[in-house]
Amino acid sequence: MAEIVVAEAIERLRLTAPVRAVPERDDAVVVTLSAAGRSADTLKPVCDLRTIVAAFLVLDFDVPRPRSLTSPERLQRIAAAMRLAARLEPAETEQMRSFRIEAAGSDSRVFQELSRRLAESAGMTAVPGSGACVLRVRRAPAGYGWQVLIRLSPRPLSVRPWRVAGFPGALNATVAAAAVRMSRPRRTDRVLNLMCGSGTLLVERLLICGAAHAAGVDHDREVLRASDHNLSAAGVREHVQLHLADVNDGWAGQGSYDVIFADPPWGDKVRTPEDAFALHRMLLHRAAELATPKARLVIITHRVKIMRRCLAEPSGRWRLIEEKRVWAKGHHPRIYLLHRQDNRPLLANYRP
Ligand SMILES: C[S@@+](CC[C@H](N)C(=O)[O-])C[C@H]1O[C@@H](n2cnc3c(N)ncnc32)[C@H](O)[C@@H]1O
Repeated sequence: MAEIVVAEAIERLRLTAPVRAVPERDDAVVVTLSAAGRSADTLKPVCDLRTIVAAFLVLDFDVPRPRSLTSPERLQRIAAAMRLAARLEPAETEQMRSFRIEAAGSDSRVFQELSRRLAESAGMTAVPGSGACVLRVRRAPAGYGWQVLIRLSPRPLSVRPWRVAGFPGALNATVAAAAVRMSRPRRTDRVLNLMCGSGTLLVERLLICGAAHAAGVDHDREVLRASDHNLSAAGVREHVQLHLADVNDGWAGQGSYDVIFADPPWGDKVRTPEDAFALHRMLLHRAAELATPKARLVIITHRVKIMRRCLAEPSGRWRLIEEKRVWAKGHHPRIYLLHRQDNRPLLANYRP
């Protein structure tokens, strides 16, 4: 999601240099903040980015081997960064009191010694394997030297504080945030989430950009309850109408919608390719019925071939604008941004 992350970083952070790629990695970028960037106030907005999974402070050391990191001056630099990461956490969580080192050979004597000394300098406890403050020690990706990367949060940033009600089928929140950004949100949008489940897309949409109106529909009473709890925890419940209804059963909505989101069920829930085809086709058709003439539709699905087949239907009402492959829960779903095309009739031969 590099493009999406870079766009968000440029928009939300005060950068002092262009965003850089990390050699040989397609899942990370480097941002440069002002020299005063070693303060909690400057770093906090990085942790508030919604499309990243983790933020690390990168310390570069011009040393030939990790053993050299144990010199007093270098230790102080690392320990200061660890304390800074701990200060970013709300005091009441008290989570960042322990740390762990992740590195090739992290159980070697060199790293044990580094760990012991850092515990003294930073005033934190070394807990191999599960310490909250994560330190990655690695060779500098380009050229000479070593880097220490300090994760700025005890848990991945995709674990959102608003998620008080879990749901096994819930969408990863960073993927949802990316989908929202792809939809080019505007405050005046009327937003609909078909098959909204526990409300991830609705919460992320409303936290990223308000809406003139927002609605979620799901046919499962239990998951709608989860939506209700999550939207409340996010402080956006009052802006959303939740509807208990089957999308395929003539739910008419309340007016039409400028932006529609959906991540249809998958895995065991949809057994055969034909079931999946029928489900996706129904979703596209219903979305078209509920959409304004210039609506954007964002679908997140694993069923790439099936989406291709649905979009190729001559009577289809959606034009593909952008398709992004992402990584979530060990799978590679895609985010599809579609625009409604006015000049075509609704699927004439569509039968639910
Ligand atoms: C993959 S989950 C959505 C997850 C959601 N984005 C979240 O983060 O929790 C798919 C949802 O579609 C709902 N669903 C499936 N078929 C439906 C239908 N015909 N009408 C309404 N909801 C449906 C399921 O109840 C389930 O909550």
